[in-house]
Amino acid sequence: MPEPFYITTPIYYVNDKPHIGHCYSTLVADAVARFQRMAGRDVFFLTGTDEHSERVASAAAERDLTPIQWADANAAAFKEAFNWMGFSHDDFIRTTEPRHIERVEAYIRTLIENGDVALGEYSGWWDHSQEEYLTETVARDADYKSPITGKPLVKRTENNYFFKLSAYQDKLEAHIAANPDFIRPESRRNEVLGRLRDGLQDVPVSRAAPADGSWGIRMPGAPEHVVYVWIDALFNYMSAIDTDERRAYWPAQVHVLAKDILWFHAVIWPCLLMALEKPLPECVYAHSFWIREGRKMSKSLGNFVDMPTVLAYADRFSVDGVRWYLLTQGPLGATDADFTYSKFVEVYNADLANGIGNAISRVTNMIGKYFDGIIPEPEGGPNADIGVDWAKLANEKSREATEAMARMDLAGALAAGTALASAVDQFVNDTVPFKLAKDPANMPKVGAILYQCAEALRIAAYLLSPAMPTAMCDAIGRLGYSPDQTPSYETLTTWGQLVPGSTVRKGDALFPRADAKADAPAS
Ligand code: MSP
Repeated sequence: MPEPFYITTPIYYVNDKPHIGHCYSTLVADAVARFQRMAGRDVFFLTGTDEHSERVASAAAERDLTPIQWADANAAAFKEAFNWMGFSHDDFIRTTEPRHIERVEAYIRTLIENGDVALGEYSGWWDHSQEEYLTETVARDADYKSPITGKPLVKRTENNYFFKLSAYQDKLEAHIAANPDFIRPESRRNEVLGRLRDGLQDVPVSRAAPADGSWGIRMPGAPEHVVYVWIDALFNYMSAIDTDERRAYWPAQVHVLAKDILWFHAVIWPCLLMALEKPLPECVYAHSFWIREGRKMSKSLGNFVDMPTVLAYADRFSVDGVRWYLLTQGPLGATDADFTYSKFVEVYNADLANGIGNAISRVTNMIGKYFDGIIPEPEGGPNADIGVDWAKLANEKSREATEAMARMDLAGALAAGTALASAVDQFVNDTVPFKLAKDPANMPKVGAILYQCAEALRIAAYLLSPAMPTAMCDAIGRLGYSPDQTPSYETLTTWGQLVPGSTVRKGDALFPRADAKADAPAS
């Protein structure tokens, strides 16, 4: 039985349209999911939308729509954007779906029965823009403004149901100490540990139901309250797989998200799970933010890389070109990454047009020219010694990619594929098959060289396919490989799978070189 691998993204607010930030987190999860599927894991990849926010209701009211009409429109926009980006999610959950609502009610009921959730009065600093309460220390440090949006905080007192978060402090700290990979990257783990030193306070899990009673999940047994949107949202990770067929996916291997919502995922969510006596996820991974041309993306600046802009980039550089840039240059670590046109073109040309794309054209063209487009029988077998121990190199690179992926080092994993493609370029330069081919007596050797080139590129393409599924599938086909069944990672990446006699396909450049002087694509 393949081992389960459950990966999630945040569920995104539907008060607005998707943008590059939402696409980035989902892309990271997609690349990991694709890699793990290739490695033979039984992957379940979940994304979706978080809909019961007050802001959805107010955004809908501004447009004379009901909240669900506005949520439907934006959830559809997220689905469209994610399909268009080529994401391979297994499910897309919306928190307004009955399957989610019913289960949230059941979780809350259990928490009330166990005494982990009870009525009380709460007074705190409310960040309306983020829909969260901040502690006195955090509020004071931020000068009583939202640390995320800079909007003023409001002192608010409410009669609410509370979750006894404070009761779980010791257990959570022990878990973090015993599991160094529970919160990643390490700098984020240290931030959480630092904040935990202030001590955990109980948190509200309900809010007064809106006057018209139309939006939110009712607290079981107390319809004058709705479940606080953050608690409702966190439960999606469980509700989506709380069925007989899917339950084995829990606990999740990775929750992917960004630094803005780490506290909810690294502290509140695990404590809720402990209260429900469920095992904790293996890793909560919080990446940093994309900024644009040196400036934070914000509504007021109107400078989001929105979907029309992403579309314009993909028109010129392909969806896989966009995916490549985001994955290799993205803010997976502790620092923000800048989305700039100049860097985009530089990376696209260096890695794709002049890198893997060029290596594939070079090799398929030579096989076309010297062997009528048929993969030659390699003289001396696939492992013939012509200067490079390809079996060993391919094996090393596949292992490097696997290890890097396990650390969520996506750029590192992809670099292993790129290194294999560069080794092919170097090999062609060193062995000069285009010169040897001038003498017919050399053709057996030329055949062996080109076999090894094509085989190494096939493996490189597999290693790069989690980032660029469409282009790499095309590349693998061009190299004459068509596995007739879903092959295992080992057969994909083990040396010598390419069958002599298969037909190579030439074709347009996979990644046409981009003119660095052209203007940035405009939406
Ligand atoms: N609905 C909550 C999440 C609930 S999860 C149980 C929420 N939604 S959100 O629409 O605001 O999405 C926030 C997430 O979007 C971030 O954590 C991150 O994953 C992604 N990003 C939003 N802007 C981003 C950037 N500028 N850069 C990278 N990712 C960003 O919070």
